[in-house]
Amino acid sequence: MAFQRVGILGCGLMGSGIAQVCAQAGYATIVREVDQATLDRGLARIRSFLDEGVAKGKVTPDARDQALARLGGTTRVGDLAGCDLVIEAVVENLEAKRQAYADLQPVLAPTALLASNTSSLSITELGAASGRPDRFAGLHFFNPVPLMRLVEVVRGLETADQTWRDLLDFARSLGKEPVTAPDRPGFIVNRLLFPYLLDAVRSHEAGLGTIEEIDAAMKLGCGHPMGPFALLDFIGLDTAYSIATVMYEEYRDPAFAPPPLLKRLVLARRLGRKSGHGFYRYEDRQG
Ligand code: CAA
Ligand code: NAD
Repeated sequence: MAFQRVGILGCGLMGSGIAQVCAQAGYATIVREVDQATLDRGLARIRSFLDEGVAKGKVTPDARDQALARLGGTTRVGDLAGCDLVIEAVVENLEAKRQAYADLQPVLAPTALLASNTSSLSITELGAASGRPDRFAGLHFFNPVPLMRLVEVVRGLETADQTWRDLLDFARSLGKEPVTAPDRPGFIVNRLLFPYLLDAVRSHEAGLGTIEEIDAAMKLGCGHPMGPFALLDFIGLDTAYSIATVMYEEYRDPAFAPPPLLKRLVLARRLGRKSGHGFYRYEDRQG
């Protein structure tokens, strides 16, 4: 199935990146946010990413202009009528996603596919809430979406073979490399990444080193592009806290338990790069 019109729910860190790559790949794309100010910030993030791409010689000015011409923004769910694929990238919270699917259900054609960019929630559970479990799957992109090549395609218990194949093809059409992952909390990447990130916070709290020392050690000693604290700030500490909580609730393994410092930073609304302050302070807010 070749998709004609793609809808994105959420224009935050991930939704904006997903909308950008869909528009760049030639899809008529519409992204929905809850209010105009948040939508405007998300669309500005897309424009500035494309402008930077032009400045770096990675995107031609013509390709940028064409991508922007294919991209629309709205605060009305009803404007997603006519989409044959919707990708949900709203906050990592089961109730928020359930509500988003309930709002979408009367608008979307019965034949349309719905995919979630969730990092940790059960695709089978979300599929049941979507009202179209056979036409529902996980489509897990990585941050920053335009630069990271992987997409995990996650099959829930009821995901139809055709849905899975269509989403593999769709990910390839975006220039991504899809990997099929099982419906287990964190799928493949976060199942392996999060125990490491959370252990870095616990180790820092236990006196292993400063935030800067631990980040420098992992960058310079292991060749990681970012140390664990810079990466947590990049993901968003609220999102990281939600992911850890979901994974801990399912696995009951202390390796996934959110460390007290992570929780306190979220309670203090130090959410990482998107709020300008997390483990580090930032001049250039992502959000
Ligand atoms: N448009 C197009 N291309 C761009 C660009 C733009 N706006 N900005 C940068 N690029 C290109 C650069 O030209 C460069 O290309 P070459 O390799 O061909 O030279 C490449 O992208 C890297 O860019 P930079 O050199 O400017 O930046 P960097 O080397 O500092 O890398 C980064 C930035 C890619 C983000 C890197 O730091 C990185 O990989 N960090 C780790 C990110 C990561 O781990 N993400 C996963 C998070 S977990 C997740 O997403 C799952 C979840 O559920 C939480
Ligand atoms: P974010 O907080 O940056 O953005 C979420 C956006 O969703 C917000 O702007 C919010 O206003 C909007 N929203 C909430 N309810 C909505 C609705 N009903 N309709 C439309 N928009 C709605 O979060 P994010 O980092 O973009 O994460 C979004 C999803 O992507 C989460 O499920 C997260 O786990 C997943 N994810 C995040 C990362 C990451 O590194 N941050 C990576 C991969 C996957």
